Amino acid sequence: IDSVLILACGTSYYSGCTAKFWLESIAGISTQVEIASEYRYRDSVPNPRTLVVTLSQSGETADTMAALKHARNLGMTHTLTICNVATSSMVRESAMAYITRAGVEIGVASTKAFTTQLAALFLLTLAIAQVRQRVSPQQEAEHLRAMRHLPLALQAVLALEPQVIAWAQDFARQQNALFLGRGMHYPIALEGALKLKEISYIHAEGYAAGELKHGPIALIDEDTPVVVVAPHDGLFEKTLSNMQEVAARGGKIILISDAAGIAAAGNVAHRTITAPACDPFVAPLVYSIPIQLLAYYTAVLKGTD
Ligand code: M6R
Repeated sequence: IDSVLILACGTSYYSGCTAKFWLESIAGISTQVEIASEYRYRDSVPNPRTLVVTLSQSGETADTMAALKHARNLGMTHTLTICNVATSSMVRESAMAYITRAGVEIGVASTKAFTTQLAALFLLTLAIAQVRQRVSPQQEAEHLRAMRHLPLALQAVLALEPQVIAWAQDFARQQNALFLGRGMHYPIALEGALKLKEISYIHAEGYAAGELKHGPIALIDEDTPVVVVAPHDGLFEKTLSNMQEVAARGGKIILISDAAGIAAAGNVAHRTITAPACDPFVAPLVYSIPIQLLAYYTAVLKGTD
């Protein structure tokens, strides 16, 4: 294969968007991520040397299934599904399947399905990187060490629950919210907005932090909380300048970062959540937890179904 095409909907689409960063920067393979309901109805240029990856919790989402069949009809037969349900149609229809084994998603909100999809996609990235000789054995061992550290990092982030509950108390009174992120954390911001909308019925939008000044900044006032997902990585300084723009408009920033990021932000944020320090590549898994908890506790406090 010389490229990857990821097809998915909703939260699964956002895990694909995160994986694009890994696949292109670690495995050096050109990657496209498409919303399945768009891909299936548009003309596209097929490449038979593409690995078509469908992502789905249920394995039954009609648009994703149709997109998979569409890709196959266009001559792309290398198909892999990353799916949570071993007996699903998508598993049956794909040449290869990776079962995430997250357990049953009971509620409408996809949560553990999302984090396990990310874990699967990170492993896929390493597998492709290995075959393409893009990682040395040492680099691969380093990435695997970062993954093995995840259970500890996720335990630490789950311990932030009391802080998230306090934060949700403010949120439950809001009508609108913005979520900002850059790079791998842009899809995490989109996911934060989707989760909040989906279960607490608060209008929320996710934006790439650098896009804010191109229009959406007009929405900022003191009644619009702005959640910024920004570990202290190579993009942090850029995001900090976006936070300063928000603060200058009276916007209330809730910053989710690590200790170094919180210190670097000074007093620009109204509220902070300190996530554990972790490897920058696996950080999206860790940062998705506080935003899932925020949506959950906001919904609980609002009494939504
Ligand atoms: O089962 P799937 O992953 O294919 O479902 C795709 C979307 O419908 C799903 O992720 C949806 O966006 C979630 N309910 C969001 O929490």
